[in-house]
Amino acid sequence: MKKLIHVLLMLLMAASLFANGGGETTDDGGLSVGIILPTKDEPRWIQDETRFKDALEAAGYSVEILFSQGDSARERANVEALISKGIEVLIITPQDGAAAAAAADEANRAGVKVISYDRLITSTESIDYYVTFDSFSVGAAWGQYLLSKAEGMGNNLYLYAGAASDNNAFIFFDGAWSVLQPAIADGTFVIQNSDQAIALSGKAELTRAELGQIIGQVTTNWDFNTAKSLAEANLTSVSADAKGTAFICAPNDGTARAIADAFGADNEIDTYYITGQDAEKASVQYIIDGKQSMTVFKDTRTLVADALKAALTFLEGKTPVATGSYNNGAADIPAMQSEVITVTADNVKAVLIDSGYYPASDFTGL
Ligand code: BGC
Repeated sequence: MKKLIHVLLMLLMAASLFANGGGETTDDGGLSVGIILPTKDEPRWIQDETRFKDALEAAGYSVEILFSQGDSARERANVEALISKGIEVLIITPQDGAAAAAAADEANRAGVKVISYDRLITSTESIDYYVTFDSFSVGAAWGQYLLSKAEGMGNNLYLYAGAASDNNAFIFFDGAWSVLQPAIADGTFVIQNSDQAIALSGKAELTRAELGQIIGQVTTNWDFNTAKSLAEANLTSVSADAKGTAFICAPNDGTARAIADAFGADNEIDTYYITGQDAEKASVQYIIDGKQSMTVFKDTRTLVADALKAALTFLEGKTPVATGSYNNGAADIPAMQSEVITVTADNVKAVLIDSGYYPASDFTGL
């Protein structure tokens, strides 16, 4: 029933948002809303694309979703293309939060309302609204999971982070640190791959600059190959007693699979525990197969619904409801935040299959 209401709501919103008759159209009959996502190369953003399309195309409306392919210049060109098509609301996930400020300013000058989607565009006042998951909780969930598996003292901890150009990477790491730091300070964990993190391990709360020092050393740049090479380099530079059982804080599913493969291939690793996020299909299979320990499920249907609801409200000339705000370095941006769910082998079927998020037929060994 809840699902049906959800679908009906989405269809209703779709009818109001997009052109091709019936809904809000611009003077030239173009799109009222444009969507820009960072890259097609990560399944995470294909999930968002799919959920946007499900919400909009089911009602027979065309949607233009552009991808920036990891390139801020292309992202800017995408924004300009949508502005010239007459959009009134832009929903955008920046490739690089600071670099996207100029594009947001341009949209703002053209009278377009800008909704930052999942990642916050920083250092500009031109952002009207932010839809996001509770990113601090994502990181805290990693810490809690790893801590729940640790026994005794001196457990080997390997830390990895997302891209420093992504504001979220800082919030995730901050969340993880909030749980892990006390367990590092009391000797439960021993950091094996970051002297920067070791140097700061006495501090319960880190400044953004301090977080940046650690992230700079353990960044995957959200890139699978970078993650794999970094993990291999880390494993090469430690002795056998830093291996055995490894606790790996990995920043998302794509990088987790790459890092897990590197640890799995090392003969001196007996067991590893590794985190993730996004519930990408390939990682759901890794969890079923015991190759990834957990993921954090961020229901993209909710984020899509929040973004479309805000867009519709802006098109009506009103201000969407916010549940809080995020400071982006230039202003407090009104925000709508969604909760996240920890998924392990124990609840993967209930949370992701039985709920209808993914069909069982996409997996083996369930
Ligand atoms: C998103 C994650 C994603 C990562 C890499 C972050 O901003 O919140 O869900 O895995 O970017 O694309």
